[in-house]
Amino acid sequence: MAAGSALITGVTGQDGSYLAELLLEKGYEVHGVVRRASTESFERIAHLRDQIALHQADLLDQSSLVTVLRDARPSEVYNLAAQSFVPTSWLQPSLTGEFTALGVTRMLEAVRMVDPGVRFYQASSSEMFGRAQETPQSESTPFYPRSPYGVAKVYGHWITVNYRESYDLFAVSGILFNHESPRRGREFVTRKISEGAARIALGLQDDLALGNLEARRDWGYAPEYVDAMWRMLQQDEPRDYVIGTGETHSVGEFAEIAFASLKLDHKDFVRVDPALVRPAEVDLLLADASRARRELEWQPQTPFAELVAIMVQADLEAQERASGRRRGGPGTR
Ligand code: NAP
Ligand code: GDD
Repeated sequence: MAAGSALITGVTGQDGSYLAELLLEKGYEVHGVVRRASTESFERIAHLRDQIALHQADLLDQSSLVTVLRDARPSEVYNLAAQSFVPTSWLQPSLTGEFTALGVTRMLEAVRMVDPGVRFYQASSSEMFGRAQETPQSESTPFYPRSPYGVAKVYGHWITVNYRESYDLFAVSGILFNHESPRRGREFVTRKISEGAARIALGLQDDLALGNLEARRDWGYAPEYVDAMWRMLQQDEPRDYVIGTGETHSVGEFAEIAFASLKLDHKDFVRVDPALVRPAEVDLLLADASRARRELEWQPQTPFAELVAIMVQADLEAQERASGRRRGGPGTR
């Protein structure tokens, strides 16, 4: 028997693709929202195309969201779509607010209009803690966002809580700390490092420009985090949860381990480019996910060094395929 039906916004993103896989494994009928583009970029869900139903809609367009809910009739909605790259939020602050903040209200309004019985997940973020008011950060830590993206996510969080309290919706906000994988967008620092290190090892690139090497993040493995999202929607009562590993590492440490896994010294290749330093930084994120451990029985499985190794190995293989070079062959390091 089918487990239910779910609609995922942001299905073409890192988390959307893993969540679609997880829900298919659980027997869900899976629907995904995609934006119209002149060229399709459905790379992350290419292997799932014949198993999920795709609907064209946009977080900017209220009626498209109502239509997709009417067509798909899901029992669960996962709102993962957003302008998710922090530096872009300084370049496009209004658009980031439209997608990442008001887009949440549009989704919630669509749920309220079409089927208030839907269970709704909002992809909130540890970026909301920003200049963290305490360490580690839990569900009760005050927010102090440090970018237009962080501000937009605070709005998305509170509108979700508001709709839960005002309209009695089963709406939850998952406050997820950074989570990474070989499907991570190339501009985020972990993927930039894993891909850069792989290319340097193959002699395809000479150095790697990074910004602030001192920033510390609580990095986990993305496939485990989408499982936490699902668990939140299976609870008896809607509640918000922090999800993270409870370990923090610097960008410099990530680079050191990534290069070391290829038997290279990151100090020989990494250079700091001041242009990549942000106008306001989030210095330290560290999760206290004890509520999730207790109530969701969720805990991280992949140690930090293994996460780095998974990403470097995947990029090495991808770069070998693309370039025709092999590590150890001519021109490689
Ligand atoms: P991602 O890879 O950047 O994916 C973002 C998705 O949103 C893409 O599918 C994108 O579609 C879609 N999208 C963007 N604007 C849209 C719009 N106007 N209408 C419809 N779809 C739109 O992000 P992710 O890493 O998977 O993260 C998923 C969510 O979790 C995001 O909301 C992010 O802010 C949040 N989050 C992520 C992390 C993390 O560490 N990964 C941590 C905390 C919270 P296109 O493919 O068409 O661009
Ligand atoms: N992207 C990037 N590129 N970041 C760099 C670089 C670089 O060259 N050099 C240093 N950094 C530092 C940034 O200054 C930041 O402190 C840290 O690396 C992590 O940056 P990102 O990987 O871009 O992620 P983020 O922490 O800003 O945001 C991610 O995590 C949030 C959860 O805390 C995104 O996935 C957000 O969508 C998510 O909400």
